[in-house]
Amino acid sequence: MEIILAKSAGFCFGVRRAVDMARALAKERTPVYTYGPIIHNENVVADLEEKGIFSLDTVRASYAGGDKDIIIRSHGVAKSVLEDMKQAGNRITDATCPFVKKIHKIVSEHSAKGEQIVIFGSKSHPEVEGIMGWSDGPCIVISDENEADDFTADNGKELCIVAQTTFLYKKFQVMVEIIQKKGYNVYAFNTICNATEERQREAAQIASQVDVMLVIGGRNSSNSAKLYQICKKLCPRTFFLQTADDLDLSDFLSIDKIGITAGASTPNYIIKEVQTKCQK
Ligand code: F3S
Repeated sequence: MEIILAKSAGFCFGVRRAVDMARALAKERTPVYTYGPIIHNENVVADLEEKGIFSLDTVRASYAGGDKDIIIRSHGVAKSVLEDMKQAGNRITDATCPFVKKIHKIVSEHSAKGEQIVIFGSKSHPEVEGIMGWSDGPCIVISDENEADDFTADNGKELCIVAQTTFLYKKFQVMVEIIQKKGYNVYAFNTICNATEERQREAAQIASQVDVMLVIGGRNSSNSAKLYQICKKLCPRTFFLQTADDLDLSDFLSIDKIGITAGASTPNYIIKEVQTKCQK
């Protein structure tokens, strides 16, 4: 049986950087807190806890007491959240992915010019909540083509469009076109991260040539869920796994080729375990 492992499977640059920053800080002193789980993977979160790195409950804002070492995860946070945490006397290590920081900068600068900010993404995703928090004025989140169809801008306003880093590129293009056709003056920034595009492109390419495709990712990871959707269309026998334990090899008898990919928050050791189990 041939196993094709995607080169782009696993941690992206931003997640690796955030995890490394958290680990480095925890070597100096513990406990260290992350503003929400540092990545969407239960196994990694458990491993970090053993090293003294704990996740703060972002809803209850338990950082309010101050005097904590708090790491901002790669998703980033709203400007006000950052300022509140600093003001409460916490020490902040900002591990926001530089690609997300770039979106914050675009939103901050263009909203200051009076443009209406439109974010393509999922309203409830922390990255999008963070991006919204860098806009000077009101901004709107649009998640699909239907919402783009229904969208009307405030009178005479120029629009600045950005996308959640994990947004599907084709969808982005279609939605920009829908909005442009309404006759608005649009500045559209493709802020989709290359790591996501590359992982999606490679997953599609592998899924189209294998008998079984495995997508490894955390249950709450939106980029892993998207990888699964893409692969499932091209390879009906696509399976979603969190760890090698979810792999039932009896499903794979008499097959020639297995493809493996993994979401941005899946650590290497889990990918290796799945690969080894398949090889066995
Ligand atoms: Fe950053 Fe792209 Fe990863 S935006 S966090 S490198 S998916």
